[in-house]
Amino acid sequence: MNISRLLLVDDEKSLLLIMSQALDSQVEEIQQAETAEQALEIMEKDDFDLVITDLKLPGLSGLDLFQEARNRGCQSDFIIITAFASAASAIQALKLGAADYLMKPFDIEELRIVVKRVLSHRSMREDVKTLKRQLMEDVDKGGIIGKSHEMSNLLHMVQQAAPTDLAVLITGESGTGKELVAKAVHRNSKRKEARFLSVNCAALPESLLEAELFGVVKGAYTGAVSSRKGLFELSDGGTLFLDEIGEMPFSMQSKLLRVLQEFVIRRVGGERDIHVDVRIVAATNRNLEELIKAKQFRQDLYFRINVFQLHLPSLRDRQEDIALLTEYFIKRISNRLEIKPPKLSPEALGRLESYNWPGNIRELENVIERVLAFSPGEIVLPEQLPDEINQGPGSLSEVSLSDKGMDVEKELRHVRYLYMVKAMEKCEGRMGEAASLLGMTFRSFRYHFHKLCDEFGMNPGPVE
Ligand SMILES: Nc1ncnc2c1ncn2[C@@H]1O[C@H](COP(=O)(O)OP(=O)(O)OP(=O)(O)O)[C@@H](O)[C@H]1O
Ligand SMILES: [Mg+2]
Repeated sequence: MNISRLLLVDDEKSLLLIMSQALDSQVEEIQQAETAEQALEIMEKDDFDLVITDLKLPGLSGLDLFQEARNRGCQSDFIIITAFASAASAIQALKLGAADYLMKPFDIEELRIVVKRVLSHRSMREDVKTLKRQLMEDVDKGGIIGKSHEMSNLLHMVQQAAPTDLAVLITGESGTGKELVAKAVHRNSKRKEARFLSVNCAALPESLLEAELFGVVKGAYTGAVSSRKGLFELSDGGTLFLDEIGEMPFSMQSKLLRVLQEFVIRRVGGERDIHVDVRIVAATNRNLEELIKAKQFRQDLYFRINVFQLHLPSLRDRQEDIALLTEYFIKRISNRLEIKPPKLSPEALGRLESYNWPGNIRELENVIERVLAFSPGEIVLPEQLPDEINQGPGSLSEVSLSDKGMDVEKELRHVRYLYMVKAMEKCEGRMGEAASLLGMTFRSFRYHFHKLCDEFGMNPGPVE
């Protein structure tokens, strides 16, 4: 059940006491006020899920309290307690938006039932709100997570590119999310109701790729027993994603160029020109300009597909997104595995943030998947992460340094901290032994350990 906070308002102290006791086990926290004025003061400082107030109070009434609270933007639910004689006010309170009312005299069971009903409605409403919010976020960005400067820029460019019908070229290292961005372009375009189809240009030999893209007429070659549409025809009106376009065979590139110039295709073995209306989004992790120099990629095709370029930053260049992405994958994968999502210890997060991520987001997703597959417990510690992430950089080629620079002193303190925690774990908290394991004196170990725990957020526990 959600944490619920309750404010009781009544000028009769004995009733406050009885209600508090009756509801103690149902809610997390109860505060009390004897007047509406006092209640408003308390509500300035704290948020409550539920306010139960007597209608008749000295000074402002319970109804005044309700209305004033709403004027101040308060979102709490209200239950109004009325005397039998003022049933009309109870009805009025409901009309104004109170969640329920209780008529005096009521017994404890009645009180509990009404409170339970109101709180469960509230938590259902919250759930629906959260779901809606998640849905909205998913639709807008197509599940692209990231709030770093680089990602905000990219999403902004996706928004600009999507509604135009221009060809888009998505570049970036492997696993940076090129396919996700291609889909986001489609979903934010006016073609979103039509199909998004994709083909991996590296996966098929030329003859098959040609048939796949342009279709075949019956009898075109042995085995072509019936005519079949290609991806260009199938995605008519929609978007065709040409993944790994850098790997497309050179002669196939000329055939593709013709289509992009005239938007007309001819099926393999066919004689009829077929007009197609398709938006092209292509992706590559290769440097096409170098491929052009090496005569492996046609320059004229490059100009056709590179009308609008979206470059995806590598994960190591947007460290601030790592925490967010990790949390996202932990939630998503736990959900799939039907386990309780574990928390990540600050040290484990530190390791993830300083790793080089050659496989980018796909690699991060795999790492989380592996960690969760081995029942991680409530908190994920650094030693549960794969070795390559724990080892830290051992040679110059493994050191990553983003263009934005780094705080090297802090990084070194963090490394020292991790070794000290590790040593403490190994020695089951015996600080003297941990110190000698690291070649330090007891005094120096104790001094640094406390300072570093303050900085990197772990309670060092009692000192021997
Ligand atoms: N910004 C992001 N937020 C959430 N998930 C992401 C993000 N970027 C990528 N992913 C996930 O990471 C995985 C790899 O992404 P994707 O397949 O789009 O990468 P890619 O750039 O096409 O890689 P490759 O070049 O290897 O084909 C996918 O599971 C994708 O859902
Ligand atoms: Mg891909």
